[in-house]
Amino acid sequence: MTQLRVGVIGTGNPTKGASRMGYAMAYQHANAYAALDNCQLVACADIKQENAEAFAEHYQLPNFYLSHQEMLAQEDLDIVSICVWPHLHARLVLDSIDAGVRAIHSEKPMADTWGDAKRMVLTAEKNSVQLTFNHQRRFGKPFSMAKDLLKSGQIGDLLRLEAACGDIYDYGTHYIDMFGFYNQDLPAKWVQGQIDYRTKNLVFGAMVENQATALWEYQNGVFGFIATGLGSRSVGVHNRLVGTEGVIEVGTDNVHLRIQRNGKSWETIDTQGEHLHGPGFIERGIADLINSLHDGTEPELSGRRALNATEIIFSIYESSRRRSRIDLPLDIDDNPLVEMVESGALQPE
Ligand SMILES: NC(=O)c1ccc[n+]([C@@H]2O[C@H](COP(=O)([O-])OP(=O)(O)OC[C@H]3O[C@@H](n4cnc5c(N)ncnc54)[C@H](O)[C@@H]3O)[C@@H](O)[C@H]2O)c1
Repeated sequence: MTQLRVGVIGTGNPTKGASRMGYAMAYQHANAYAALDNCQLVACADIKQENAEAFAEHYQLPNFYLSHQEMLAQEDLDIVSICVWPHLHARLVLDSIDAGVRAIHSEKPMADTWGDAKRMVLTAEKNSVQLTFNHQRRFGKPFSMAKDLLKSGQIGDLLRLEAACGDIYDYGTHYIDMFGFYNQDLPAKWVQGQIDYRTKNLVFGAMVENQATALWEYQNGVFGFIATGLGSRSVGVHNRLVGTEGVIEVGTDNVHLRIQRNGKSWETIDTQGEHLHGPGFIERGIADLINSLHDGTEPELSGRRALNATEIIFSIYESSRRRSRIDLPLDIDDNPLVEMVESGALQPE
């Protein structure tokens, strides 16, 4: 069987312990490729020699590099996994496309500006490169079983999706992406939101708000709502799917999935040993994108789908900047949160 040659950019250092300053996601990507018999991890690149060296030793790779450009020039890669912080995603995706790879799997969030997020997807499409982003919860049972319950009509017609988490940009990208997963991957029509950013807060080097609330409407009339930070308690559950005849909740009070039909009492659904973070989500996501590369179908984690969520994220920040509803498509290139701080409109301590 022909082996696809895989390289990883940004190995991280798992011995430091997972935190918002470093999860070493590259190891999780690498384990997923290693589990497939048609992929061969052949090289890695990291600007920190000790990280690159430790990763190469762990996976017994013949080569490691201190520059991604050198790896791309030397290794004739089919697939690149990008596991660096978000401000670098666009540059590395575009360099990998230039180098002629067939597929790129990047970590979330897509990019640190809306312009870069669009540019990556458009450039990949133009060059027939398969581009995916690691919104791996699409492959988790609590989420996929919630979608199955919805699709089989158990709560009637979908009216509204609600989510709560720490912030819109870093964690919220997963849940706004899940809304696409539940709701036919449709783009939104308009977005209205407000944020508060009074205390400096960086996650993987990116600015995120302290607190936000936002409402939007999808093209099929379904509403989305998110509350982050302090206000997340108003939703009180990771995901809620509200229908004409019932409610589904994902992730509440140690219950991973439950349903309430027609105002009757809650029924807990067994998620077969899976919780909100795994196990197995990243592995399934990577297996799916490799299958798509073979048969030419759209991968579940496609750039097009990620772009729908990212447009909502930057529209929430833009709505706060413009103090009005934003009708889509979003017509900016920058990151409104960063610009508001740089211009002095927001002055976090
Ligand atoms: N999908 C998820 O659930 C999930 C969870 C955690 C983190 N993430 C995302 O994964 C991404 C990476 O986060 P992490 O925690 O794995 O990071 P990390 O800090 O553990 O690893 C990043 C590595 O990139 C290296 N690096 C920096 N600049 C580089 C460059 N120009 N070229 C090559 N290497 C470079 C660093 O030296 C470091 O080793 C982030 O975008 C983060 O949001 C996703």
